[in-house]
Amino acid sequence: MSGPTTQGLELRGLTLELGAKGNLKQILRGIDLDIPGGSITGLAGESGSGKTMTGLAICGLQPAGSRLGGTISYTSPRTTTPNLLALRPRGMNALRGREIAMIFQDPTASLHPMMTIEAQLTDGMRHHLKVSRSEARERALALLERVRVPDPATALRKYPHQFSGGQLQRIAIAIALAAEPSVLIADEPTTALDVTVQAGILRLLRELCDTLDLAILLVTHDLGVMSALADTVTVMRYGEVVEHGSRYQVIREPRSAYTKALIDALPHPPEENTMEGTL
Ligand SMILES: Nc1ncnc2c1ncn2[C@@H]1O[C@H](COP(=O)(O)OP(=O)(O)O)[C@@H](O)[C@H]1O
Ligand SMILES: [Mg+2]
Repeated sequence: MSGPTTQGLELRGLTLELGAKGNLKQILRGIDLDIPGGSITGLAGESGSGKTMTGLAICGLQPAGSRLGGTISYTSPRTTTPNLLALRPRGMNALRGREIAMIFQDPTASLHPMMTIEAQLTDGMRHHLKVSRSEARERALALLERVRVPDPATALRKYPHQFSGGQLQRIAIAIALAAEPSVLIADEPTTALDVTVQAGILRLLRELCDTLDLAILLVTHDLGVMSALADTVTVMRYGEVVEHGSRYQVIREPRSAYTKALIDALPHPPEENTMEGTL
């Protein structure tokens, strides 16, 4: 963990309700979560516990008809917003991509199949940063280098189907970082990848977090991934936080019976999944 930070998110009492009267579904029931810069904040829990909805709500991408409550405050070197939920759609659109970016389990979901990597990397940059075409291209090359895509100049001319899943996730990360956001929401970023390429992506996220002072929310049902990478871990169940603490505390000395059961269900003891060991 790094020291005092000037950027990040604070969720307080975040609620999300879906459905009409008589058929109300409480998806999030008052989530408290800090996502500071220079740190990887892990969000764990079984499928359906509300992890993805938490990430989507932060980005203002919750399903149509959702009702949100509580506050999400956001601070970066450029701007301070006491509550993202109070922003008008226009204000939220300006923040999304620019300040807060998201990557998903399936990188092809966030990539356009018919556009070159260059077009996809430079679009957001030109929109948010108002840079020229040639400057955008320079930045695109630098970004591909930063995420370790081999031969960036050739990669810019290619289309998504010409890359492997692992390379595509690196490209999706580069696109997410194109407008220099302060927060990256990574929802199951390695779940769809071969185990052999997972560690490389996780190592990259760690490096980006440390070098860019990024606030990363790492959403994963995989406590093995969590124990290898996250600085702090929050465990959710049925839309509530059941446990929160440092990685060490949550993995080694879980307080809730639910977290304990999740850890006991791991195929390998989590101690084997240290950064030094796995990554
Ligand atoms: N578009 C949607 N409309 C209604 N309910 C949804 C929608 N998406 C997810 N849900 C429900 O919200 C709850 C939380 O889902 P989700 O955040 O996707 O869980 P997780 O990412 O932890 O697996 C689940 O009960 C799920 O069925
Ligand atoms: Mg999910």
